[in-house]
Amino acid sequence: MKIAYASRTGNVESIIKALGVDALRIENGNESLDEDFVLFTYTDGYGDVPAEVESFLISNAPYLKGVVVSGDQAYGEAYCMAGDKIAETYGVECLYKVENSGTDDDLKAIQDILAKM
Ligand SMILES: Cc1cc2nc3c(=O)[nH]c(=O)nc-3n(C[C@H](O)[C@H](O)[C@H](O)COP(=O)(O)O)c2cc1C
Repeated sequence: MKIAYASRTGNVESIIKALGVDALRIENGNESLDEDFVLFTYTDGYGDVPAEVESFLISNAPYLKGVVVSGDQAYGEAYCMAGDKIAETYGVECLYKVENSGTDDDLKAIQDILAKM
């Protein structure tokens, strides 16, 4: 399964690197894919989907199979809310919520999820 990811301060990127998967980095949202993918994203603002991810999904959503989202518990009710918003908007599952760059257990859990897809 292809991975597309957005990372601003490096947490999501470090997860992608630790997973060792082939992944497309979303920089400005103009990137395109022609195969099924899982999206990895961070959460911006207060529970917001990052702008470049919004743009990316406008043209690539037909191939979206699920979302893994990173956030920070300090945001309380808005924790990882970008993943919930994407799941609701595009009718896919929010597969996993991870705090910042995650723990070894998080990485293992994400690996297991990806292996089943
Ligand atoms: C300006 C700003 C706003 C954020 N807003 C939220 C938020 O609403 N909810 C949340 O769970 N995390 C929020 N975060 C935390 C990031 O989503 C989290 O640290 C994530 O791991 C960043 O990923 P990245 O390093 O790959 O960019 C925010 C971080 C920043 C800098």
